[in-house]
Amino acid sequence: MNILLLGSGGREHALAWAVKQNPKCDRLIVAPGNAGIAQIAECAALEIENGGAVAAFCDENAIDFVIIGPEAPLAAGVADRLRDSGLLCFGPSAEAARLEASKSFTKEICDAANAPTAGYGHFTDAEAAKAYVRAEGAPIVVKADGLAAGKGVIVAMTESEALAAVDDMFSGAFGGAGAEVVIEEFMEGEEASFFVLCDGEDVLPIGTAQDHKRVGEGDTGPNTGGMGAYSPAPVLTDTLAEKALAEIVRPTMAEMAKRGTPYQGVLYVGLMIQDGQPRLVEYNVRFGDPECQVLMMRLGAQALDLMHACAEGRLAEARVNWAEDHAMTVVMAADGYPGAYQKGSVIKGLDDLAETSFEMCFHAGTSEKDGCIVASGGRVLNVTARGASLQEARDRAYAMAEAVDWPEGFYRSDIGWRAL
Ligand code: AMP
Ligand code: GLY
Repeated sequence: MNILLLGSGGREHALAWAVKQNPKCDRLIVAPGNAGIAQIAECAALEIENGGAVAAFCDENAIDFVIIGPEAPLAAGVADRLRDSGLLCFGPSAEAARLEASKSFTKEICDAANAPTAGYGHFTDAEAAKAYVRAEGAPIVVKADGLAAGKGVIVAMTESEALAAVDDMFSGAFGGAGAEVVIEEFMEGEEASFFVLCDGEDVLPIGTAQDHKRVGEGDTGPNTGGMGAYSPAPVLTDTLAEKALAEIVRPTMAEMAKRGTPYQGVLYVGLMIQDGQPRLVEYNVRFGDPECQVLMMRLGAQALDLMHACAEGRLAEARVNWAEDHAMTVVMAADGYPGAYQKGSVIKGLDDLAETSFEMCFHAGTSEKDGCIVASGGRVLNVTARGASLQEARDRAYAMAEAVDWPEGFYRSDIGWRAL
């Protein structure tokens, strides 16, 4: 198979690494890719949110299968455009991608599917939203309806914080994403992420993970895209996972199919768990980043077979071969992230890191300059390892982080603290 993978982050490096190990992969092109991906696959410059451009590229390069990594091309309808051209593609249609692209849409689907989630109100003007905040009181959660690169959620511990968030959103702090606002009941409990493949009809769980969204040790400081993750998530027991499938995932998928917009791709199910009950926090229509890195480390080459079966509607016959293992990824970020940070600092020591089925340094934001690897993003490297226990995976991942010579970067030293 000739495969095209869209994206440029650590998630895509991990996907490329897993796909490349599968003998069914003849040629792998990643667009646009990054300096780490370029070491294992061909990289191509391509406007990945332009469905016509992607379809033409597939035609020119005899691509058999397209895997879409990030949400933006999905929300822009790239999967629809590819399928219209008869191409096999892993990832939902623009209509189905609304499960991530619109928070109010997801709430409406949960209502129709009777899926447990936080109570909410949906507003298109500030005064009504503020009246709702005053009536409900704090803590309360204010969310921009649209895609806001993970920044459109304010968990307000006080009423005044929530009122300010409403004003910010309606005055354009999140651009068009904040033209509509969802206000939710604050849910307490422990968060975990559940990853499920869906082919429009059948669902297949492919792993659980927990990430660390705050930048600082002990889960303090501003929110980030994620500073580290581990899999499996011990809080998501088999019983809870089955409950989440029965009460949340399957009814959602059935509702999408009933509306004539079946969901095909990976569904990232963000859950809040309290007193043995999972409730939905959010859906994402793609793999998490950095959660994907730990899932790929555990799944390896079979990830390609699973995504391919999903795209072809063959999930009913697909099986996951589980090892009783654990994986951890630690994000190395540029000083200053998630605020302003410098680009262009040189990273050394990467050539000496082991690259095995137990440890890999995935690149998230790097480029090559004059033969050196330089940082070109906020989250830059994801040192990722697997072991018989989480402790073993942790020790391997942190040994890699210490071996990287990059004075302008930092990482959290407590990834996995809840589970360890
Ligand atoms: P989201 O982008 O919807 O996942 O929200 C980002 C983060 O905000 C989540 O991972 C949670 O930690 C938190 N969050 C979102 N909604 C709620 C809620 N209703 N109750 C408590 N925390 C929430
Ligand atoms: N790590 C969180 C996300 O990918 O949305």
